[in-house]
Amino acid sequence: MTIADRKNAHVELAADQQRRADAVNEFDDVGFVHHALAGIDCIDVSLSVSVAGMDSPAPFFINAMTGGSEHTGQINRALAIAARATGIPIASGSMSAYLKDASVADSFRVLRLENPDGIVMANINANATLEQARRAVDLVSANILQIHVNAVQEVVMPEGDRHFAHWPGHIEHIASNLDVPVMVKEVGFGLSRQTISRLRDCGVAAADVGGRGGTNFARIENERRPGSLTDYSFIRHWGQSTAACLLDATGVSGIDITATGGIRSPLDIARALALGATACGVAGRFLRVLLDEDVDGLITTINGWTVQLGQIMAVLGAPTPAALTHSDLVITGGLAQFCQARGIATDTYAQRTQKGRSAP
Ligand code: FNR
Repeated sequence: MTIADRKNAHVELAADQQRRADAVNEFDDVGFVHHALAGIDCIDVSLSVSVAGMDSPAPFFINAMTGGSEHTGQINRALAIAARATGIPIASGSMSAYLKDASVADSFRVLRLENPDGIVMANINANATLEQARRAVDLVSANILQIHVNAVQEVVMPEGDRHFAHWPGHIEHIASNLDVPVMVKEVGFGLSRQTISRLRDCGVAAADVGGRGGTNFARIENERRPGSLTDYSFIRHWGQSTAACLLDATGVSGIDITATGGIRSPLDIARALALGATACGVAGRFLRVLLDEDVDGLITTINGWTVQLGQIMAVLGAPTPAALTHSDLVITGGLAQFCQARGIATDTYAQRTQKGRSAP
């Protein structure tokens, strides 16, 4: 299978997963305590945030998906148009295909051509050299470089990598020498507290926890394996959910933490922000809207989410995304069990306003 065929297959299989939407999503284990007199005026809510030093008008972005074939270049064009129309940041899919074969450059370059003034993130894997990182950044005049770490996906891919020990060294070398900030991201299996601390110590500006609950690359890669090859379906529940990662990372400072993986709605964004994320990335859900509707449908969805997120924040009395970290949250179900096992006190989340003696 060529790289172009693989990129096309990822898009189709990820969109199908979204249509089935049968994943266990632990954002459902996070509930806001409703205080009926806590609300503020919608007009007094500001959604703007800074991610890795870059200002964004809203606390969510279109996360890394694709590029590397003619079809995925068209998808990137549509995603870039939506990013331009709404002002939210956008990440490229992995640019390894371009680093191997410059003839597919246009399928990535379109992200910048259609969105000349927006925040654009380049994306490479952790095998890339500093010189390759610079080429990826240059191609799209990127404001941020994403490096994805995806060992589980690689082992399930028949053609995937089998060497991971050098990844921390590569990440540190790139983060120390590149002119733009580096964000390291998982692709759906999550980043632990220890991993995020280690990334911070490597000079990484932002960690995107990329947790379980949304697009599942263990399943996608297993579905791509020819029937004659070994089955990996047993590994489909690997990793920590996005909500679990955010809870696990509580108290880690010196690095921005963003939340991708299973964001389905403005409520999930509010939940992630309340758990400490600076911003959220959305991949599969926006891909499905684009494929099932069109670019106008995606723009309408993004603008709608912005309005609805502002309304949720007004109801909660949060004038800024950061203020959501003072909201009372009840954590239940499997997520509460995770917290107990990791020594995370869930009652402190449910009693935040009492602790601050500012209960409405
Ligand atoms: C992805 N994702 C991804 N991530 C990355 O760093 N490089 C990549 O090339 C890709 N490719 C890719 C293709 C497609 C079709 C999808 C849907 C996703 C992973 C993505 O950025 C994100 O981390 C996960 O999809 C989890 O988020 P969602 O989809 O649950 O919102």
